[in-house]
Amino acid sequence: MKLFWAALAAVLWVGAAQAQQAADTIAPEGAGTGAIALSGPAAEAQAAKIAGRAVEAKGWMVVAANPLAVDAGAKVLRAGGSAADAMIAVQTVLGLVEPQSSGLGGGAFLVWYDGATGEITTLDGRETAPLAATPRLFQDKDGEPLEFFDAVIGGRSVGVPGVPALLAEAHVRWGKANWRSLFRDAITLADRGFAVSPRMATMVARDAERLSQHPLTAAYFLPDGAPVAAGSRLRNPVYADTLRILSRDGPEPFYTGEIAQDIVRTVRNATGNPGVLSGVDMAIYAIKERPAVCMTYHGHDICGMGPPSSGALTVGQILGLLAEEDIAALGPGNAETWRLIGDASRLAFADRGLYMADSDYVPVPVNGLLDKGYLSRRAGLLQGDDALPIVRPGRPDFDHTLNLATGAPIEKPSTSHISIVDKFGNALSMTTTIENAFGSRLMVRGFLLNNELTDFSFVSHRDGVPVANRVEPGKRPRSSMAPTIVLKDGKPVLVVGSPGGSRIIGYVAKTIIAYLDWGLDVQSAVALPHLVNRFGTYDVEAGTAATALAPALEAMGYEVNARDLTSGLHAISIGETLQGGADPRREGIALGD
Ligand code: GLY
Repeated sequence: MKLFWAALAAVLWVGAAQAQQAADTIAPEGAGTGAIALSGPAAEAQAAKIAGRAVEAKGWMVVAANPLAVDAGAKVLRAGGSAADAMIAVQTVLGLVEPQSSGLGGGAFLVWYDGATGEITTLDGRETAPLAATPRLFQDKDGEPLEFFDAVIGGRSVGVPGVPALLAEAHVRWGKANWRSLFRDAITLADRGFAVSPRMATMVARDAERLSQHPLTAAYFLPDGAPVAAGSRLRNPVYADTLRILSRDGPEPFYTGEIAQDIVRTVRNATGNPGVLSGVDMAIYAIKERPAVCMTYHGHDICGMGPPSSGALTVGQILGLLAEEDIAALGPGNAETWRLIGDASRLAFADRGLYMADSDYVPVPVNGLLDKGYLSRRAGLLQGDDALPIVRPGRPDFDHTLNLATGAPIEKPSTSHISIVDKFGNALSMTTTIENAFGSRLMVRGFLLNNELTDFSFVSHRDGVPVANRVEPGKRPRSSMAPTIVLKDGKPVLVVGSPGGSRIIGYVAKTIIAYLDWGLDVQSAVALPHLVNRFGTYDVEAGTAATALAPALEAMGYEVNARDLTSGLHAISIGETLQGGADPRREGIALGD
């Protein structure tokens, strides 16, 4: 009976939320989404999203943040390409049509399920700090942290990009299609022009002052001094030329040739805020295969990206702390559910702040942080009725010193997520980013350079104790990106991920809970209103049914803040059919066949 009422509450709550979000998709919301004018299968996919229906398919599915990018991936899959091939087409188009979020100048993490072997592989294409970087990179002469945008804009924040090398690595490992063919759509769109989306136009207009500070960036995004308008045709022939070079010669020119030289020159000569990136930094860049981080939750294996991302560890800790709670029976419309999720999240973020960083530089207690006994002991803290008055990091088991200070990174939401399943049974979950919207605002050869180094802690130490995520030469900044594949009995059942800065962790954890515990389909799971607690206020999604929970959460002792929570969750469930869900808060769609 309890389950019945929980299920009914879920349906009513989700229904109200979807109606609101469908309206939001048509009327531009906080981050500037309006419906893009589409035709054919893309229009049907968009209509399904607005109606709150998942897209169904039997053979393959691709979900990403812009219909042009999804279409490019769909063509590759339709022609017999693998999920890795399709990702290359999607990423190169995203770099053109959603340049504020990801591209050749950024980095990404890729989680791969291999249909032939059943193995999960995780690839780290994260940006890397220059060898000349020091822990004081983001401090003034007195050792005080810089203001965020003083650090971001210019060359100082630029790490060696990882995306071009990741595209090549994925193709070598899992590609079936001809490498060169995978750039075709992006090159054509860049040469002939594409219609600027409402979201891109809104983001450009909002950022016009910062974009105007660098001539190449200003010339592209603010032609004749005015922000590019939604629906206007924008050409990027310089980007087309860059793609032609990569399609012909692979990633080498990007890391050791003419493109590398342009990147280094641009970073080192950035007016007012030059960086220290060198040709050597570019030349020694390498993709790293990392051990996948997996944990079990309610009969499923949740697998994702380990350090330098905090994604899988923090999502895993949240789920592990909730494992003994009957979240299914409580349902999504219950304040008690969100007390448990909110405080589990606060506990996980406390550990994240202290322990998680690039494990090539800092010993990270990966096993200890996900140890069942540790999480069960820590879950004892959730047994009260009210918000925890104080949340401190725990002491996971580890055979190494844990004497670290909590850091202070400032992570802003940008980024993009790609989910793909191909007809060979492979599944790909990749989150890709240039960090802040428009990254460092420096443009080279038609793409933007990242500001990923500001994902390091600006504070390097406290009272002589080092911060795990401090800047160090050659280190990769801690990420929150959480590309995830959920398995049941060794087979993938859910592919999911999102942009959103450190809120990514809450978005992904909630979607997994919605799918596994509340039985929602992928479209309902991604659309479900957000309530996210990282360590401070409890953010509830403005304009949705979630705000009805605010008074109860306040009575429990949380400081509640109603605000836009613009996730970009893209998910595929794998069962008798494939179902694709695209976040109604953004412009993406799911396409399958
Ligand atoms: N820059 C976003 C992230 O890596 O989490």
